Formats: sequence, structure tokens, C-alpha cells
Amino acid sequence: NSICYQNSMLRIFHRKHLLLNLNKNLTTQLSQQQNQKVVSFDDNVKQRRDEANRSILVQVQSAHSFHELQSYCSSVGTVKKMMHYSTGVEPMHFIIVEFAKASDLQNIYTMSSYIEDTQVVPVQSSYLWFRAATKKLSKNKNKSIHKLNVENGNHILRDNELLQVLNSCADVNEQMVNLHNSTRLNEVGTRLRFLVAKQIEMAISGMFPNSAALPFGSSVNGFGKMGCDLDLVLRLNDESKVITDETRLVYHCKALSGSERSISQRHMEVIGDILQLFLPGCSQVRKILQARVPIIKYYQQLTDVECDLSMSNTSGYHMSDFLYIMGAMDHRVRPLIFTIRRWAATVGLTNSSPGRWITNFSLTLLVIGFLQNLPKPVLPSLNALVKLAGKNDKYITDDGINCTFLRDINVYLATNPIENTDSLKILLLQFFVYYSQFDFSSKAICLNESMAIAKPEHSALYIVNPLERGLNVSKNVSPEELEKFRLEVRNAAWLLESDETKDSNWGIIPLLTAKRILSMNNGNLPRTKLLEVSKLFEDDKDGPVYKNNDVKKQVQ
Ligand code: GTP
Ligand code: MG
Repeated sequence: NSICYQNSMLRIFHRKHLLLNLNKNLTTQLSQQQNQKVVSFDDNVKQRRDEANRSILVQVQSAHSFHELQSYCSSVGTVKKMMHYSTGVEPMHFIIVEFAKASDLQNIYTMSSYIEDTQVVPVQSSYLWFRAATKKLSKNKNKSIHKLNVENGNHILRDNELLQVLNSCADVNEQMVNLHNSTRLNEVGTRLRFLVAKQIEMAISGMFPNSAALPFGSSVNGFGKMGCDLDLVLRLNDESKVITDETRLVYHCKALSGSERSISQRHMEVIGDILQLFLPGCSQVRKILQARVPIIKYYQQLTDVECDLSMSNTSGYHMSDFLYIMGAMDHRVRPLIFTIRRWAATVGLTNSSPGRWITNFSLTLLVIGFLQNLPKPVLPSLNALVKLAGKNDKYITDDGINCTFLRDINVYLATNPIENTDSLKILLLQFFVYYSQFDFSSKAICLNESMAIAKPEHSALYIVNPLERGLNVSKNVSPEELEKFRLEVRNAAWLLESDETKDSNWGIIPLLTAKRILSMNNGNLPRTKLLEVSKLFEDDKDGPVYKNNDVKKQVQ
């Protein structure tokens, strides 16, 4: 009882602490973000993989096991960081232990053993549990070396908690920044996802010591929220280990037979079986091998992460790099995209299961397209980044997709400072107005050129795939769903614009609470001041562009 009580107090403390911290130092955070040099996507992934190579995940009885575990691990190697999190209704507690050196981990593995049970598969992995001590322990003298990092648990903010956070903000801009800060994937969430990737690499490392399970998608592209899925692409031989002129000894390898697709499907079947039969925590394994990109879906229950594993989607990794760059270009991009993604989920435009609706990925491209197309753009076109690419930026995937573009955005920003200074509120309103006016019937959104182009074919919504220009990433969207999108952007513009009172439903709150939208409009198009705003746009041959910046004045 006492442990339960302590645990629930700890949870309440975490939550309160979280809410308090969100509003603290917001301005400092913002100005820091603006002045920081941006770490490249590749360097970020490298650093995270390295961190995972020095980390283990240990199940403990409660957060109070921290000191005992710290003392035990410190007797084996140098502990750099420890972070606690819990998962499940009857919470299971875990601590991520990061060591200073990968060799410390080898010592941990040497000292660890398996439970004496013929009913388990004795697999070595970085997922362990901490047994209660059989002998009385001597008191740990070094209790103060590490503090348990309680802020970074994996708590997903409940809707009412989020509304509380948003209500306590001073203005819409602060609401959007806080929405981003309080719902984005945090440190623990990121580390857990890289530990999941490492579990697969470790499992096949005997045969494939140079394999790489690379996270892509929202886990790493800067647009991931707490609890987002993990998209992984598994490469059996990372590019760094290909033959060079100096190589004299070459491995004998089995010849492949059959088509590339059928080989890949067979390999994935085996990997799926390994996950299902051997790896702790991997459950609900589903092999979807007939899809255009064959994937294995599974749930990693020790980390509480849903995974989509593929072996052939290497352009996805570079696409994530492109999205990461776009998010890092300007401090407003991520809060704006988070707000729009959350709004879209609230009004039912996006859906976690695949279907005829707009995906988060397509929606993100719509926002980027809009930010590129402003009279004073917030983001550059992909072509501008392609022009500046250096020799280290050249990438052509195995299936011939050219993914060459400038990776170091500090180079771009040094000579092309962003002149647009609009507030987040203005950008949000402009986004809704822009797409309520967009001519979807004849135009396609093209991020390569920062403009709308003539639609190559008759899909309802056409967004050119920036890396494979012949493809439409939103081919799945039905005319009905597009119509719903047009209706909802108009509704949203109206709600945001008509926000004059400061009751508990102000700023972006009405956009994130579906009930109010439905009840206010009764399902009909709102009578709206939007028409006035829309006069600020005009269609030319390249698609709608802004006439001037007066939207800003009207909003204020
Ligand atoms: P959430 O999982 O919804 O948080 O966002 P996500 O960006 O991770 O989307 P998703 O898991 O659906 O897809 C993962 C990644 O695969 C995306 O970020 C893209 O890089 C890529 N991707 C998704 N859909 C498409 C598509 O239709 N075409 C192409 N070429 N790539 C896609
Ligand atoms: Mg994803």
C-alpha cells in the first residue's frame, strides 16, 4: 500500500511539475532555439544510435530502486545518466541507464544471467530486470552523483491537462509553442525508440555485424508527438562497409535467387519470426508483405512503442531528413505543424488507420508548401537546397532515387536569413485561408519549386512527392475527404478569427475541441468574415498567391 501511495504521489508530482515547467522560461527557450546552430539530421541520428549502444533498459520494482541500481551499475562501469519511466495501467517501472563507454555494457552483459526456466528463450539483449538483493547491501555513499530524471518520463498529457496548459497562456503564440513543448516526443521517448532499433541490430549482429535499423518518420523528423509510432528501415549492411580498393579479403556470401521483391519478402518473413519467437517485449507481430512497401508491424511492450519495420524504404530516411531540415529552419515551423496536426486529428481529417483520408505526412507537406509560398517565404524550396548541395550531400538510394540536397542548413541560413516575421497566430490563420482558397481541381502542391503547378492527373488531392517527382503522396485521398478538408479549413479560419472574448474557450482551444465546432456551425458553412480575408488572395497562372500582408492587420 505504501509503495502504491508513493507511486501515485510521484505521478501527481510529475504531472504538476510538468505543467509548471511548461510555462517556465518559455521566452528563454525560444531565444535559445533561435540562436542555436542546428545539428544535422545525420549527426543527430548518429548521436542517438551511439547513446543507445551505451544504454540498457532495466525493469525495476519502483522508481525508488534507483539508488540501488545506480550503485550496482557503478560497480561495473561509469554511469552517465539514468532516466525513469513507467508504462501500463498497473505501472511497470523502468530505468534507462546510459554508460560512458560501450565496453561498460559488455561488462554488464558478462555479469548478467538468465532466469533458470526451460520455458524461456535465453536471449542476450539490452532489456534486463533488476532482481531484489539476496544479501543485505552496504549503504551507498555516492547517493548524490546522479539525480533521477523525473521530468522526462513518458507521460502523455491528457486532453484536460493540455487545455489547462493552453488556458494559462498569455496569447495564441504562447499557446502554440506550449502545445508543441508539452506534446512533442521527449528525451525518454526518443531514447526508447533508439533502444527498440538497437534490439533488432543486436539480434542479428552475429550474421550481420554492420546492420543498421534506422528510425525514420515522426520519431526523428522533429514532428513526432509522445506515443507516436516508430518507423524503422533495416539495412543488413550499412553503406560504410562496402568494398574499397584496399580490401583484399572478401567474405563469401550466398547468392540471391528470385526477384528483388520476393527475396525481400522472404527476408522479412524470417526477421518477423525472429521478433515473434526470440525477442523479449516484441508482441502482436503482423507481416504485411504484399503491400507496395512490405512491412512488419509489431508492438514493443517493454517500451510501449508501436513499430513499422521495412527493409526497402530507404528514401523514407532521406524524406525524414528533408522534413527535419524544414522543421529546424525556423522556430515557428514545428509549433505550427503540431497545432495543425492536432486540429486535423480533432476534427477527424486524419485517422490513425490507413484509408482515404489525409495522412499526417501529407498534411505536413501541405503546411511546408504553404510556408514556401508566402510573399515573404518562411521556408525555401527543395530546389534551392539541391542547388547548394555539396559532395557530402550526394545520396542515390539502391532503387535509384536521387536524394541529394543540402544537409547543413546553417550554410543556407548564413546567406539567406528568413525575412518573414509573422506571428504564429497569423501564420496559422493564413494557412487556413490559403487552403480554403486553393484551386485543388487544377493545381498540385509542389515543394520542389515552392509553388502550385498544373495537376498531372485527376486525383482529388495532388501533392508531388518531393523525392520522386512522378508520384503523388496523397493519391489515397478521396474527393469527399478533400471536400471535408476545405470545409474544415474555412471553419477553422472563422473560429480563429472570431476569437474576441477571453473565456475558457479562446485562441486555439476551439480548434482542438471538436464539440464546439460542430455545435456552432450545425454542420453548415459558417457565415464568416473569411470572405473579407479571402479578397487578399488572387489566383494567377501559378496558383493562388497573396496580394499583400493585410491579413496581419485584420487579425490584430
Ligand atoms: P505519424 O506516424 O502519423 O506520427 O507521422 P509519420 O511522418 O511518421 O508518418 P507515417 O508513419 O505514416 O510514415 C513514415 C514516413 O514514411 C513519413 O514521414 C514519410 O517519410 C514516409 N511516407 C509516409 N507516407 C508516404 C507516402 O505516401 N509516400 C512516400 N514516398 N513516403 C511516405
Ligand atoms: Mg510514423
